[in-house]
Amino acid sequence: IKVQEYRPQSFIDFTRQENIDAYQAALTRVRAELVGKHYPVVIDGKAVKTREKLKSINPCDTSEVVGTTGKATIKDAEAALEGAWEAFESWKTWSMDARARILLKAAAILKRRRLEACALMSIEVGKNYAEADVEVAEAIDFLEYYARSAMKYAGFGSAETTWFEGEENGLMHIPLGVGVSISPWNFPCAIYLGMLAAPIVAGNCVIAKPAEDAGLIAGFVTDIMYEAGLPAGVLQFLPGVGKEIGEYLTNHARTRFITFTGSRAVGLQINRVAADVKPGQKWIKRVIMELGGKDGMIVDETADLDVAITAATQAAFGFNGQKCSAMSRLIVVDEVYDAVVGGFVERAKTLKVGTGEENANVTAVVNEMSFDKIKGYLKIAPKEGKVLLGGKAPGKAGGKKGYYIEPTIVGDVKRDARLAQEEIFGPVVAVIRARDWQDALAIANSTEYGLTGGVCSQSRERLEEAREKFEVGNLYFNRKITGAIVGVQPFGGYNMSGTDSKAGGPDYLANFMQLKTVTERW
Ligand code: NAD
Ligand code: ALA
Repeated sequence: IKVQEYRPQSFIDFTRQENIDAYQAALTRVRAELVGKHYPVVIDGKAVKTREKLKSINPCDTSEVVGTTGKATIKDAEAALEGAWEAFESWKTWSMDARARILLKAAAILKRRRLEACALMSIEVGKNYAEADVEVAEAIDFLEYYARSAMKYAGFGSAETTWFEGEENGLMHIPLGVGVSISPWNFPCAIYLGMLAAPIVAGNCVIAKPAEDAGLIAGFVTDIMYEAGLPAGVLQFLPGVGKEIGEYLTNHARTRFITFTGSRAVGLQINRVAADVKPGQKWIKRVIMELGGKDGMIVDETADLDVAITAATQAAFGFNGQKCSAMSRLIVVDEVYDAVVGGFVERAKTLKVGTGEENANVTAVVNEMSFDKIKGYLKIAPKEGKVLLGGKAPGKAGGKKGYYIEPTIVGDVKRDARLAQEEIFGPVVAVIRARDWQDALAIANSTEYGLTGGVCSQSRERLEEAREKFEVGNLYFNRKITGAIVGVQPFGGYNMSGTDSKAGGPDYLANFMQLKTVTERW
């Protein structure tokens, strides 16, 4: 198969009016063609009628039902497993090239439909134009990157072994079987697609369980995978309730692997359930999980303060702080604390709150549960620090009722306070004052999480020290700590942030394969 070298997609420039116009035309088209649509459960290539449906609500205007998906039952989960194991018998025999071709074709279709996918996410989860665009770009990148990764695992001798006289020795990478992919709502296009495309191209069959809040975009990209030629049963589309079918599938004896991205609490629950061997189960389930974060960025007295303030604003409030990578702790050395925090507050004041469709900087958070959880943190904010900006949850913007929270900055939070330790997953930042650089580094590492982190400093010695000692999976210097690009910044966390599987990295596919060593004595 002939492919050019992998290159990430470039992003759309929304400072140009023609791109804004194109986006708005896509919003109109999506409102006419996709809003109100029903995406059914799909098993073995056939739509399955379910008695109940899941509604997807526009978080920026909660009076709007964006569409519905089927709500899979335990019976559907059983049928999906059965059908996927049947499909596996043939799928595992396809060449890597043939499987990769399907991902490449899907990438080509998604490139053509890029603005539709973006617009759908603006309506379904409230992403503004740039946030939606970088996500769809990432989804395309995952397809392109994993297609190319697959080729290096092809055939006998797919990994290096040492020559031994009188024998032929070699390693083969082989798929695991049927697994479950359970994904979050915050990157419902890119993470959903990446987490199913990687195991599939490696020869596995996948039951994909999208998040309840974002079933439409999942249905949209699932259709693209089918359109690209994925055989029936290789990808089973199973929207449903996590606690019901998610847990049922992770428990099941016939589930070979689980790839999960989501919260720490659910991840640890899945880990526990998956460890328990069920009657008839003949493997140890492989569990790959990427969880939450409490990501900190240090600013020291040598930093370019403007760079630091820009980085903090982007990383804290991009998609309302609803990223596992979002900066939720700003750790500032005392000497520059007032200047940095003052500048950060002033910059954040310029952010406009509104809907994703009108391209606001800060939009509504995803659902009522999230809204209530964040309100709980806003309540304790004045007790744990000084509320320097925001602090309220108006619940409406521009005359629309939605889950709106003001961008909030809380100063002088203690390093062990709840605001400094717990993942809030909203536009709320805890600012922590450090005595000096060493203290700042100690604060940065004083969490059980270890996903992203950053340092704004002009000191070479300190950057080198952070390179060694800052305990995170993705570390950024003198820039924002969000927005990892596939192949450029392989992504995944340490400690309670996950198994560090490094999505978009050179070894990601190995998570979904096992190795066989074969020796023939000559
Ligand atoms: P969540 O844990 O609530 O849900 C994730 C998925 O798990 C959903 O599809 C849900 O239906 C399912 N689920 C819920 N309970 C289940 C159970 N008992 N068994 C099986 N499945 C179950 O997370 P969320 O709110 O969708 O996403 C936000 C979280 O995801 C945040 O903590 C964020 O940091 C994390 N996240 C991490 C990364 C990363 O790469 N590390 C990326 C994105 C999001
Ligand atoms: N991959 C996403 C980021 O880096 C989560 O922001």
